[in-house]
Amino acid sequence: MGDNADVEYERFADIYSVWTSTAPSARANRSFYVDAYRAADGLICELGVGDGRIAVDAASQGCAIVGVDNSPAMLALCRERAERAGVSSLMTLLEADFRTFQLPSPAGLIALPYHSIGHLRSMDEKRAAVRQIHAQLRSGGTFVFDDFVMTPARLERMRQVQLRSEYTSPSGHEVLLWVTSLVNEQDQSMRVVTWEDELDTDGVLLSRRYRKLSLSWLEPAQSRQLLEDAGFVIDTCYGEFDRTPFDASSASEQIWIAHKAA
Ligand SMILES: C[S@@+](CC[C@H](N)C(=O)[O-])C[C@H]1O[C@@H](n2cnc3c(N)ncnc32)[C@H](O)[C@@H]1O
Repeated sequence: MGDNADVEYERFADIYSVWTSTAPSARANRSFYVDAYRAADGLICELGVGDGRIAVDAASQGCAIVGVDNSPAMLALCRERAERAGVSSLMTLLEADFRTFQLPSPAGLIALPYHSIGHLRSMDEKRAAVRQIHAQLRSGGTFVFDDFVMTPARLERMRQVQLRSEYTSPSGHEVLLWVTSLVNEQDQSMRVVTWEDELDTDGVLLSRRYRKLSLSWLEPAQSRQLLEDAGFVIDTCYGEFDRTPFDASSASEQIWIAHKAA
């Protein structure tokens, strides 16, 4: 794994598309972000561009996107997706970290979709990223990000073992993809553990492969504080990707839109 051994997505990339295609929130967030990119004015940057699930869709609708990610494996998937869609000329991909990325010019919109801020585990790391995002925007530029709204019911679901998907491996074997999470409520963090069971035609286990991802979450008041501390002006917070205003008693997401003062 070389220099990227500490980049968790290097070990997650080959199941990422199964992961997102079986996650209801991934369907809802895609059209929200594609609409935001289409409405943007100036350079558009997606942090944690991943396999280009959102960015390549937006590029197919005419948007030029700078995609930033610290995982070469995820960037390779994004590059392939852009090539298949015939939009490589609209995509600029940068291997960089959320806390230190440098854009070729100040952005009109920076997005950090799909709970990706949670891959920065400590508040200090999150603060550093939000400050860097502020620095990379032009005056009046917009920052959009989302995070979980963590409730006891959601935590309970995450702790359960779930059969996430059933599919056929490239070698033709049936695969069951399982997931559960080890939650540390005090730290607002979790280890997501997935495993794939590869079966023979009699259903006998041939191999099992484990993968782990570290995630953390913000309370809405912490998100607000992070934005304000970095100098952002908060425009709105939605509680769903259909733009329902945030209501702490019912929201399933926190989707923040803020701008850098002119
Ligand atoms: C949940 S995925 C989101 C991918 C894509 N935006 C989507 O919605 O499908 C998070 C992405 O962020 C990247 N990532 C995680 N931590 C990062 C960091 N500190 N700097 C840059 N990229 C990071 C991962 O490699 C991964 O591709």
